[in-house]
Order: sequence, then structure tokens, then C-alpha cells
Amino acid sequence: MRIDIITVLPELIESPFEASILKRAVDKGLVEVHMHNLRKYGLNKYNQVDDYQYGGGAGMVMMIEPIDNMISQLKSEREYDEVIYMTPDGETLNQGIANHLSTKGNLIILCGHYKGVDQRVRDLFITREISIGDYVLSGGELGAAVLCDAVIRLIPGVISDETSALTDSFQDDLLAPPVYTRPANYKGHEVPEILTSGNTPAIDQWREDQAYERTKKRRPDLLTDN
Ligand code: ADE
Repeated sequence: MRIDIITVLPELIESPFEASILKRAVDKGLVEVHMHNLRKYGLNKYNQVDDYQYGGGAGMVMMIEPIDNMISQLKSEREYDEVIYMTPDGETLNQGIANHLSTKGNLIILCGHYKGVDQRVRDLFITREISIGDYVLSGGELGAAVLCDAVIRLIPGVISDETSALTDSFQDDLLAPPVYTRPANYKGHEVPEILTSGNTPAIDQWREDQAYERTKKRRPDLLTDN
């Protein structure tokens, strides 16, 4: 997979790819992530990328021309499966979207700033608009980092324990069950006995029951949505 991220603040989104699982995915060659500073395509001697909005009102709008030139350059080099725009009014990211995108080859992610991008950018170039939740961030970069993390960890080979990404919360519409590690007794607080019993079928059943109970208590909407 190849991800091209278009941003006016590359420094805001570089570090997640320099540590832990995302770094390992990059180092293993399972994903390539390229940052593109939109200012490189900015207009005039100020490398301008935004302007006042027509009709008046506070806040700047990202102009179409630098974005068009940037996206056209990328598209002249390879084909893209999706051109994603990070925006609070997009579809809310969930595990299903992450699963779907993890099967794709090449993605462009455009990060918005200020008041967002000229609507014509959305109409002409964007194939998918994604929000990471019902709150407004200062820009799309942190949302793009969240999206990349959720997607990249699902690419086969990225997580060493192949099954672990599949047993995550949400993967089967249930939250994950509680987990424990050593010591079995910490200051009188014991690990559930079943987990140290060695009885694998009983442990599987316990985990399933716990996942169901936790979901019923914390996110009953997940049980009734489908
Ligand atoms: N940009 C600003 N807020 C955002 C959000 N909630 N999700 C994605 N991109 C954003």
C-alpha cells in the first residue's frame, strides 16, 4: 500500500510513522507513506494556499489551484483507489471503513485547514470524505494519522500476531473482553481463575461471554444496529 498525504503542516503528522507498529510497517516495506507540503504548489511569491471566502465571513478557505496541481502531479505518476478528504462533516470512521481501505493499493489523503477547502475540490477530486468523530480539530492531520493507524495495522504482516488485529474490539461488532497478565495475584486482586485453568474451550467461552456483557453494558447500540 502507498499513502500520499497532502498537508500544509507535514511536521504535525510525521512522528506517528516514526515509532512502533507504523514504523515497523514502513520498515518492512508493507506500506509507503509520503508527505507532501501543499505550499510547494502555493501561488505567487508567498506560496499562498488559502484565501478569503466569497460572500464574506471569518476564516480562510484552501484554494483549488494548489490542490489541483498537487493531486494532478500524483495522479500522473500512478493510479489511486481513493482520494480521501479529512473533514468533520464526512462519514464517521469505523472499523468497517478501516477494513475496506486496508485492502486498497494507493490512497491520497487531503488534510483540510482553516475553514476547509473550496467546495469545487470536494466536487471534482475527492472520492471519500472521512471524519474521526463529532468534534472539530484544528486541521485534518491528526485525523489522517488516526485513519492511517487504523488502516495500516490491518495490512497482513504488519502485526506480528496475525490473529490479534482480528480479535480487536469492533472487529465483530463486540468490544474486546478484559485481559490480564502476570502476576496472577496483585495485592490480593486475582486474575479470573478460568484464565489460568488451561481449559482453552472454557476460556474461549468466557471471553465471548465477557465481550458480550461488556458490549451490552457500554455500547448496547452495537448489538442493535444491525
Ligand atoms: N478536521 C477537523 N475536524 C476533523 C474531524 N473531526 N475529523 C476529520 N478531520 C477533521
